[in-house]
Formats: sequence, C-alpha cells, structure tokens
Amino acid sequence: MSSLNRKFPRLLPTPITAGTKTSDLIDGAFKAYNGGRLAEACRLLTEKMLANNGAVGLSLTGALTPAGLGRAAIVPLMKAGFVDWIISTGANLYHDLHFGLGMQLFAGSPFLDDVVLRKDGVIRIYDVLFDYDVLLDTDAFVRQVIQGKEFQKTMGTDEFHYRLGKYVHQREVELGIEETSVLSAAYQYGVPVFTSSPGDSSIGMNVAAMSLRGSKLQMDVNRDVNQTAAVVYGAKSAGLTSSVFILGGGSPKNFMLQTEPQIQEVMGIEERGHDYFLQCTDARPDTGGLSGATPAEAVSWGKIDPDTLPDCVVCYADSTITLPLLTAYALDRVAPRPLKRLYNQRDAMLEAIRAEYLKHGTVEKIEHRTDISAKKKESHPKKGRSGRSVTGTARDKKKVAPAAKKKASNR
Ligand SMILES: NC(=O)c1ccc[n+]([C@@H]2O[C@H](COP(=O)([O-])OP(=O)(O)OC[C@H]3O[C@@H](n4cnc5c(N)ncnc54)[C@H](O)[C@@H]3O)[C@@H](O)[C@H]2O)c1
Repeated sequence: MSSLNRKFPRLLPTPITAGTKTSDLIDGAFKAYNGGRLAEACRLLTEKMLANNGAVGLSLTGALTPAGLGRAAIVPLMKAGFVDWIISTGANLYHDLHFGLGMQLFAGSPFLDDVVLRKDGVIRIYDVLFDYDVLLDTDAFVRQVIQGKEFQKTMGTDEFHYRLGKYVHQREVELGIEETSVLSAAYQYGVPVFTSSPGDSSIGMNVAAMSLRGSKLQMDVNRDVNQTAAVVYGAKSAGLTSSVFILGGGSPKNFMLQTEPQIQEVMGIEERGHDYFLQCTDARPDTGGLSGATPAEAVSWGKIDPDTLPDCVVCYADSTITLPLLTAYALDRVAPRPLKRLYNQRDAMLEAIRAEYLKHGTVEKIEHRTDISAKKKESHPKKGRSGRSVTGTARDKKKVAPAAKKKASNR
C-alpha cells in the first residue's frame, strides 16, 4: 500500500439526508474540485482567519449587491464581527443604496428582449430587473445628501461612505426596515468601507455632476492608500493576523493587497505580508491579469506571507454561490466576535503608520533584502501602537499545520 493514507484524508463523503445542515453538507459532501476548494475556504475562514480576533478585509467586485448578497450575506457577516473592513467597487455600494432606500428589485430572467425592456424603462443586470426610476431616485438621494455642509470638503472614501451610510440608516429607520444595506451596517458597526475607483460608478458620477454646481466634495485617494495600509499595519503591529477575503478580483483586490507593498516597499517598514488569502473568482491566472493572480504570485510581491501560503485558497466559482455558503458555514461554526469598530480609530491608525514611515522611509531608494529565510531567523519584536514590544501573541504562536503544508491546491 502506498503512503497516501498517511498524507491525505480518505475521500469518503457523508450521505446527504433531508435535514443536513449547510455546514455539515460542506464538510461531508464537498470533497473535490471547486467543491473541495470551497470546503477548504470555509475552514480557512473559520479556523484561521477569524481565530484569535484576526483582522479580516473583504473586497467586493462583480454585481453582488444587485443580487441581494448585501442583505443576505455581507450585512450578517459584518454584524457578527466577521468583516472588519471593506474595499468595494462603487457599483456594489450604489446598488446597495436601492435596498437601504426600500426600493424594489426583481428576480427576472436573462432571456428577455432588451429593446423591449428599454422601451418599458426596465434595467437589466443579467437576470435582475428594476425600473429606471430606481436609478433616478437613487441618484437624486445621493445628490441631495451630498449637498449637506458636512460633505463640503476633501475626505477619504471611508469617511464619505460613513457619512452617506448615516443617511441610509436614517432612511431605513423612517421606513421601518432594518439590516438591508451594507453602507448602513458599516455606519452602525464602524466598519470602514473604501472604494478604489471613486469616479467609476453612479455614486462617483453624481459627485462629479455636483462639483459643476459648486460642491466642494473631493475624494482623497492618497488618504485611502495610506489609510488602508494603516488598517493592516495596525492589526499586524498589535500582533493580530491580517486576512484578505476576495470576492471576484478587479481593482478592489489589488487595493487590498497593495497595502503590504505600501508598508514594506514604499514606506520601508519591516513586514512579511498578509497572513491568509481566500479568493472566490472566475478569473484565470494564465492571462497575467491581477484578478486571476494566485496567492503564490502575490508572495513574490511581498503581499502574502510565504509561511502561510500553503493555507491560502482560491475557489473558482461564482460568488453568488460561494458567499452564501461561506456565510452560513461561518455563522454556524464561529461565535460572533466583538466589533473592532476600526472606523473610529482611523486617525490614530494613520498617525501610527505615519510615525513609523517617517522613522524608516526615505525619499531615495529604500535598501531592501529579499532573503526571506534570513529575515525569518532574525529577531523582529513586533511593536504595539504604543511602541511596546508585543510578544506571545496570536501571530507569534501561529504555525502552519503539517497537513496543510502538503496541499498543492491553487498554486
Ligand atoms: N452603475 C454603476 O455604478 C456601475 C455598474 C457596473 C459597474 N460599475 C463599475 O465598473 C467597474 C467594474 O466593476 P465590476 O464589479 O463589474 O468588476 P469586473 O467586471 O472588473 O470584475 C472583477 C473581477 O471579478 C470577477 N467576477 C465578477 N463577478 C463575479 C462573480 N459573480 N463570481 C466570481 N467572480 C466574479 C470578474 O471575472 C473579474 O475578474 C467598477 O469600478 C464598478 O464600480 C459601475
């Protein structure tokens, strides 16, 4: 007999019954191919990413909120303290507004005549349908809200979304609806929400139009780049793990991952990369695009810690299937965590990374070693925000499971 039984678990699924719970279904019957990857992703999320209060950043691309996934999955994950910060396309945040404003979207069909739909004033996102008025009313809401005095300045997109979220929440209260919107939940739970392309959505289009009427609202992209790096640095310097939970790919994927090169390569601060990488996507790696780039490729950029690479998972499946399953699994297997409310710490986090950058960064080329193993042997006590060494933390104790090391998935 070969040594297979010592290296790998036997492939022996549990028969599905009428009452099988989602989490048991995934553990018992998702055994191979992308089902196997999704089961690994569920265990990575629950056993590593959420363990020891680790920081979890969620990146959103694809038309997820129009499909109802904000209310169905993203809000419940935020409420349970399982998502600490978010980078999203503007589109997901714009279409999220429809739900927070009590508007109606419909589960239609992808096989309709779009010329007829246009005549009838109906908008289609694949099989999701809604009236053109939904767009016009949402646009008007954005324009009216951003007329306010508090919006007449330059701000990071996290601050912009926090302030917008406050008005969405107010509207939810007026309408007697709750837990419908990602932006409202982010406001309530102090979850910072960034967008990497502020101009590339209907929110950005309305902000731009209002600038022609004298609005002073501008997005501070430099603050966003530094603030997202500060979120990651804040977690790492407090001895916590930093995980990226990537749905789709696109610009938000890079904006989340580039936090590590911003810390190491640009600011000259010693760091080893994000600890855990979980991506659900349809994007392939062989075209060279960032959307399909694997965690192994991210290691070469310093984006991912090479020690934890064997734990990283890419599941090649539609987020409308994977996200509800991951959410159900996590809510079943992990108790809610205390909310980190990172939005409330934004200035302190930015100040902490600024101080560290001014200590280590230079205008000239930063001397950098890529000898990871040599780095590892050296002692680098992690500094807390107070400047104290953080020892005996979750991060220091972190070990790669021997079984996981043998896995060859996704690389
Ligand atoms: N009205 C609007 O505001 C509006 C509408 C649509 C798009 N946009 C803008 O266009 C840009 C592109 O957005 P996008 O979200 O379409 O990104 P995208 O099409 O660039 O997708 C990013 C990646 O995610 C993958 N992906 C998409 N859907 C997926 C799914 N269901 N499951 C798994 N993987 C999936 C794609 O293959 C791709 O690799 C954004 O800046 C967005 O704000 C704006």
